[in-house]
Amino acid sequence: MEFLLVNLKAKINQFSYPIKIGTNILHTLPKEISKFTKSKKVLLIIDKNLFNVYGKPLIKYFGKHNFKCSFLQITAGKKCKDIKNLLKIVNYLEKNKFSKDSTLVVLGGGTIGDLGGFAASVYYRGMNLVSIPTTLTAQIDSSIGGKVAVNFNNNVNAIGNYYHPKLILCDYKFIKTLPNRDFISGISEVIKSVLITSKKDTKFMSENYAKILKRDKQVILRMLKKIINIKINLVKRDERERNVRMFLNYGHTIGQAIESSLNLKSEHYRHGEAVALGMLCVAYMAERYFKVKDLYSNHVKIFKKYNLPLNIKKFSKSKNQMLNIIYKNIFKDKKKNHTGIRFVLLNGIGNPNVVSNFNESLIKESISRLIR
Ligand SMILES: NC(=O)c1ccc[n+]([C@@H]2O[C@H](COP(=O)([O-])OP(=O)(O)OC[C@H]3O[C@@H](n4cnc5c(N)ncnc54)[C@H](O)[C@@H]3O)[C@@H](O)[C@H]2O)c1
Repeated sequence: MEFLLVNLKAKINQFSYPIKIGTNILHTLPKEISKFTKSKKVLLIIDKNLFNVYGKPLIKYFGKHNFKCSFLQITAGKKCKDIKNLLKIVNYLEKNKFSKDSTLVVLGGGTIGDLGGFAASVYYRGMNLVSIPTTLTAQIDSSIGGKVAVNFNNNVNAIGNYYHPKLILCDYKFIKTLPNRDFISGISEVIKSVLITSKKDTKFMSENYAKILKRDKQVILRMLKKIINIKINLVKRDERERNVRMFLNYGHTIGQAIESSLNLKSEHYRHGEAVALGMLCVAYMAERYFKVKDLYSNHVKIFKKYNLPLNIKKFSKSKNQMLNIIYKNIFKDKKKNHTGIRFVLLNGIGNPNVVSNFNESLIKESISRLIR
């Protein structure tokens, strides 16, 4: 049964687009596209795993509404965000005479969304983009805010852009088929969002964990609405990440260093799992920096409820080697500025601050404790 929970509006600088959250709302897509373009030409960039279940019915809906929908299936995962796939998409668009007013629809998780979104942003300096995020991470985070990118030379998001879609459709039914590890990885980003913004929402996540883990429709839809609103509100105040948007990088500076300590081609850590470890590191640092109590243990309490990782898996011969690899990777981080690496630290839940110039020993100590 179709159910539209809410129709949010993302207003980011001169851009304004709807984010529709509900269940079984995909069939509305052709009509929604007709609201912003007369072109009936659509290229669907779809996660290969999702083609049979979600792609085929969507292509049928387009057919019913006299759209000409072609598609490219791409294998999802970190390694799909590369130049080869980017050129494959652009080549297809160009060879098949797509114009700026035709529409690229991306259906998949954060990796497919980042890749397809970047392709849409560069094709003749930007064509219509619609995002159908299918993982929790993509629904609450990567599809909103305009960041699109591909990786380059093992560097995450080295070639990227800011580009907003014309529409985001967020359907609960995708959450139902998500593998557990990917669901939990998304929960890590949800927890990040509540930790940086509100004690009340952190309590909501803590109290409702059993229902959330069961993927209860009502609670998940409530959660989606809350977290998507948090993201919209931060991004609209600071699209280019000069101040408050940086808070969303909570746990990311060290988390991404852990993630990229393993070759990007291996899927050792999901993004959210690495971010959870990064949050533990900065919670430890924040307790010392701000002299706040119980921050670390409060993180551990909520992480345990959702089975998020509390330790870094072994990826090299010795603990020291691992520590040095991770530490070195922190400095590759794009959030480095002329004053040094910046960390988002909480002076208590809901009170984020950007702090730079940390001494090496405290950073290393925070990581080393997690290596078993
Ligand atoms: N642009 C941003 O602001 C931003 C923010 C956060 C993360 N990201 C990017 O997002 C990536 C992580 O995205 P992700 O976690 O969505 O990973 P993903 O796209 O790799 O998807 C994870 C897995 O889930 C499968 N899958 C997707 N949807 C499914 C569904 N509904 N049912 C069953 N299986 C499904 C995919 O086939 C894949 O195997 C990161 O690597 C990062 O590059 C971008």
